[in-house]
Amino acid sequence: MKPIRVGLLGFGTVGGGTFQVLTRNQEEISRRAGRRIEIAAVCRRDLAAARAQVGEGVRVVADPMEIVRDPEIDIVVELIGGEGVAKDVVLAAIENGKHVVTANKALLAVHGNEVFTKAQAKGVMVAFEAAVAGGIPIIKALRESLAGNRIEWVAGIINGTTNFILSEMRAKGLDFDVVLKEAQRLGYAEADPTFDIEGVDAAHKLTILSAIAFGTPVQFDKAHVEGITGLQAIDIKYAEQLGYRIKLLGITRRRDELGGIELRVHPTLIPTQRLIANVEGAMNAVMVQGDAVGTTLYYGKGAGAEPTASSVVADLVDVTRLATADPDHRVPHLAFQPDQMGSTPILPMSGVRSSYYLRLRVADETGVLSRITTILAENDISIDAVLQRESLQGERQTDLIILTHVTVEERMDRAQEFMQSLPSVLAPIVRIRKEDLA
Ligand code: NDP
Ligand code: HSE
Repeated sequence: MKPIRVGLLGFGTVGGGTFQVLTRNQEEISRRAGRRIEIAAVCRRDLAAARAQVGEGVRVVADPMEIVRDPEIDIVVELIGGEGVAKDVVLAAIENGKHVVTANKALLAVHGNEVFTKAQAKGVMVAFEAAVAGGIPIIKALRESLAGNRIEWVAGIINGTTNFILSEMRAKGLDFDVVLKEAQRLGYAEADPTFDIEGVDAAHKLTILSAIAFGTPVQFDKAHVEGITGLQAIDIKYAEQLGYRIKLLGITRRRDELGGIELRVHPTLIPTQRLIANVEGAMNAVMVQGDAVGTTLYYGKGAGAEPTASSVVADLVDVTRLATADPDHRVPHLAFQPDQMGSTPILPMSGVRSSYYLRLRVADETGVLSRITTILAENDISIDAVLQRESLQGERQTDLIILTHVTVEERMDRAQEFMQSLPSVLAPIVRIRKEDLA
């Protein structure tokens, strides 16, 4: 059979990894796909660098539209990133009847509804396994392997850069900036690393997972997003003392009693005994709770050239295998048939249920603890644990750490406001959400 011809747009970390994996495992991949998958053209603006990377025999261009318009190209692999050029080339490729493989979570989280609708109308596939959790096949697991379940929640460490930063800071005591530079050198970080550290990249990925889990359109603009830049080393230490680890967690959960879905990314205390709390470095892990299967956990490299290429190439094989199938009988882009998508709303943060870690800098004087616990009790918030650091000699203030049981966020907001107004509370209260993931 005639080889399937691929145009690779973007030839950086993931593009380079994809080229290497396809070249190295060509024979085995062809045996799996049923025909040869051939990179016919690559695109990057630095033509000399691209030529040096691919050698003879592969066309090299600087304008991605040249590939998108080429009638000889069957599949366009978009690995440029971002929402600008990448969006134009993906939409143009679909318009020209080409299947698309992409690792671009920013594009799909924000413009996925438009992209998938157009692909459906044109009868082409848009495959995006690499867009979430790098090398972990979580999209396929959720969309296909767990199709018999009613999904209750999905929670994951889905940004390698921030997990790498938190791990290195905790284990080696390294500074934030030093570790971020190392993550950039290793190719984990986004072109704009603020997307990683401010939680945006994780929210992009969570948005896609949520849509697939619950059969709703992508709704990135409704996600609650907090990164790790406000996190202080002292809270990582106190959390350890209490038996917790702090991770940047993405959580999406069905809340039938409120008729909505939680969609949130924020630093989270997780009990150290959970497997996911021990996911270190650039590794990712995603937990999925389904009514039939129970809790499942998917673990692997969440970033980097070849782990991500592993997913890109798997999508190429899938598209190659399915290209001849009737478009209405392929696996739907967002798991549910397009005319069966639901409209369940994303809940505001005030309705979210969570437990909390609170750190209060307080005056070391009689009655402080009782005033604080009274406020919590008055707001119907139950305390799980309390830790008070012994005051150092001559010091008239101390840290009071409180862990609460699960409550509703708006109650915690109210209680925090009251506690903050006490004269004996000397600094802004630090609050981090806590999930038991049991
Ligand atoms: P890189 O920055 O390493 O590579 C981007 C490539 O695109 C470069 O080859 C660049 O080359 C080329 N490029 C940029 N703009 C243009 C343009 N206007 N026209 C033509 N080529 C262009 O990014 P990554 O490989 O890290 O990321 C690619 C995608 O994969 C992103 O969507 C990212 O979010 C996603 N991803 C990345 C992972 C990772 O571990 N790095 C993991 C999972 C997903 P030149 O400058 O020469 O044009
Ligand atoms: N910047 C991303 C991360 C790359 O650190 O996880 C993988 O999507």
